[in-house]
Amino acid sequence: MNEDNTIEVVDLTKKFGDLVAVDHLNLTVKKGEIFGFLGPNGAGKSTTIRMLCGILAPTSGGGSVGGYDVVKEPEGIKKVIGYMSQQFGLYSDLTIEENIDFYSRLYLTDRKEARNMREEVIRLVELERYRHFQAAHLSGGWKQRLALACSIVHKPSILFLDEPTAGIDPVSRRTLWDILYDLASKEITLFVTTHYMEEAERCNHIGFIWKGKLVAYGTPTAIRKDLMENEIMTIRCRPLQAAFGLLKQHPQILDVNIYGDELHLVVEKADPLIHALSEYLQGKGITVDKIEKIEPSIEDVFVAMSREDK
Ligand SMILES: Nc1ncnc2c1ncn2[C@@H]1O[C@H](COP(=O)(O)OP(=O)(O)O)[C@@H](O)[C@H]1O
Ligand SMILES: [Mg+2]
Repeated sequence: MNEDNTIEVVDLTKKFGDLVAVDHLNLTVKKGEIFGFLGPNGAGKSTTIRMLCGILAPTSGGGSVGGYDVVKEPEGIKKVIGYMSQQFGLYSDLTIEENIDFYSRLYLTDRKEARNMREEVIRLVELERYRHFQAAHLSGGWKQRLALACSIVHKPSILFLDEPTAGIDPVSRRTLWDILYDLASKEITLFVTTHYMEEAERCNHIGFIWKGKLVAYGTPTAIRKDLMENEIMTIRCRPLQAAFGLLKQHPQILDVNIYGDELHLVVEKADPLIHALSEYLQGKGITVDKIEKIEPSIEDVFVAMSREDK
């Protein structure tokens, strides 16, 4: 194993009956980096995490986490990782402080250390002022911060977070990401799953899993540059829906997606189309406010890849 790699996955595979949930997955995550594991629902993200946490045995293949073998040393892995699952077990009848206290005493036998860590993590997730609030009454964003606090009381060197930002509001998502950066700056390796594409841009490396297979892996910049064969144009125009309908039918446009109040078009070459499309839409009674070629976002790339139906 390469010393710099905290996580190494080799041909990791999991079958449930006939279903191949994770299909010969290969990837590495370096110490102290934030690895974003992206993919739609059912792609195999949680199953991969469960195997890497030593909870679920692979059907074949394997890897190592923190120097421990996924197949042979799952107990060793549990000592060095934290795992915030999709349904993290908070006790709704306990307060924030009592929840953290519970987990710190579960993991740490030294009472003084347990108390110190409780105070450290409660500060880190910025919940000190609310420590006596009952977990049942917390909003989604606060619950996730509490779950995060509970999953790091034992100072793991590698933290697996399974959709930590799912279903929480944009401000809470940002706050949670600030905390994740804080952890990464303390040399904790983060393995984060999400289906929010814009969160991909925040990671050092990302992997995109699709039907159990890793179909893209690299830095966000490299993925944007290398994986997009076509070009992207953006159009702001009125009425948007009518333009969407027209452009969907246009022979030179490969795909159209609505992004807020703009359309993103996938085309082979954008430059020659700027003038022509503007004329075309105006001829159909559409007011074009803006039309230009843009760099693809990670979302553009993955939408394009998903449409190829690999
Ligand atoms: N314990 C299980 N038994 C049978 N099928 C499962 C089990 N766990 C997951 N699956 C299936 O494996 C696939 C991948 O699931 P999962 O890893 O949870 O995806 P994701 O986390 O990306 O949404 C899905 O089709 C899911 O239904
Ligand atoms: Mg999942």
